[in-house]
Amino acid sequence: MSRLIIVSNRVAPISEGGPAAGGLAVGVYDALKETGGMWFGWSGDVLASGQPQIQLEERGPVTFATIGLVRRDYDQYYRGFSNATLWPAFHYRADLIQYDRHDFEGYWRVNEWLAQQLVPLLREDDVIWVHDYHLIPFAQALRAQGVKNRIGFFLHIPFPASQVLLAVPPHRLLVEALCSFDLLGFQTEPDLRAFCDYVVNEAHGEVEHAAKGPSTIRAFERTLRAAAYPIGIYPDEIAQLAKAGARGKLVRTMKATLHERKLIMSVDRLDYSKGLVERFRAFERLLDHAPAYRNNVSFVQIAPPTRADMHAYQDIRLQLEGESGRINGRFAELDWTPIRYIHRQYERQVLAALFRESHVGYVTPLRDGMNLVAKEYVSAQDPDDPGVLVLSCFAGAAQELEGALIVNPIDIDGMAEALATGLAMPAAERRARYRDMIAQLRENNVSVWRDNFLRDLQGGGEKRRAMRAK
Ligand code: ADP
Ligand code: F6P
Repeated sequence: MSRLIIVSNRVAPISEGGPAAGGLAVGVYDALKETGGMWFGWSGDVLASGQPQIQLEERGPVTFATIGLVRRDYDQYYRGFSNATLWPAFHYRADLIQYDRHDFEGYWRVNEWLAQQLVPLLREDDVIWVHDYHLIPFAQALRAQGVKNRIGFFLHIPFPASQVLLAVPPHRLLVEALCSFDLLGFQTEPDLRAFCDYVVNEAHGEVEHAAKGPSTIRAFERTLRAAAYPIGIYPDEIAQLAKAGARGKLVRTMKATLHERKLIMSVDRLDYSKGLVERFRAFERLLDHAPAYRNNVSFVQIAPPTRADMHAYQDIRLQLEGESGRINGRFAELDWTPIRYIHRQYERQVLAALFRESHVGYVTPLRDGMNLVAKEYVSAQDPDDPGVLVLSCFAGAAQELEGALIVNPIDIDGMAEALATGLAMPAAERRARYRDMIAQLRENNVSVWRDNFLRDLQGGGEKRRAMRAK
């Protein structure tokens, strides 16, 4: 029986009740709480001095092994190369890419150092599953230290088209490092295709597609496999949370403040990839073109700040404060604020209940690997009276949720029309769309995601060994 080792930069907080805002922490926590195992990564601490030490903590079947970063490593690896270079590039924001060679060296160095920290904790038959763009060189670093275990990688964010990736100066080193894993997982088929395109056209490798299961990649003198494994959630758990949360005081009080007005709900980290400026403007366009909605609909945008020590995030925050103030100034009445724009985290139960109480879920990222909020929104609905999901065609979730109203997030008029359609949609059509989407979410829940990936990582169905807790 193999033990599962999860490695990711962000680790779900150990002491609080639930995971941090962010799809990775939410998805991985759900997946790991059943199999048990170890979760290794950054503690979230930045040390002013001293040598970081691994902290081990047991919670149920999961051992959390976390370590702090010294300031220089945090700046170069996390703020620098991960979030000022890779994040914008992988989200198709070539205009925001910043590159500093020292940050790239720091990124590589921190990956090697983290790998060194993990090695003493490893056992021979552990299966290692590495997550996300912070840790692309991790398998190469483990291999250099003699680790022979199976190592898989899952990318939670999009994989960019080659022409965009080429803008990242060390693109070749990154793809070569990816080829040190045994299995690569992407959120969607288009992400997988973008990776294969780079392998064939830029790295002059080979891709062999299988009728069923992962493709075989031959590049950089390595053979590995790659496939799309769209991450899921537990829809029935969210539905239960939503029902319970709707009875809670906070949600009942909030509902009373609506005075029967319709509710449009959005929840995102405050990230420029989430398309919030365009989203606010499309809501404004709705109020412009359909005056009947003035004082008859409220839009709640919950957006906890993220990576707040980076310029691009300070800029988007300022821009949104300007836009929400401007739109509210134009349309607000003494008894009505059109946009309630809130910068804080809420318990999962409260968010789920707000989704359930709303008429439209408004999820319009400019690019997103999957977007779990879209899946949570659908799951939280009352099957007899569900809300409508308005969803960006550039969210990975749009590949699965065909019952949503799919929009292009830069088409302001198109989004305003979709909001109007959603707010006015007859119950029978809402129910039919909901049934279609909830069936899909149940079929591909988070344990299916985990099991499919681990089955392929361990070499196919027959050879699969069950995971044990510790
Ligand atoms: P990303 O990974 O880019 O943050 P996702 O939509 O995939 O985007 O995942 C975000 C996760 O974080 C979801 O599970 C969502 O419910 C949670 N989340 C987002 N905002 C908040 C918030 N204000 N309070 C609590 N959880 C949040
Ligand atoms: O799911 C995408 C993701 O980038 C995760 O990798 C990350 O943990 C999360 O969003 C939130 O970002 P951060 O960890 O920088 O707060």
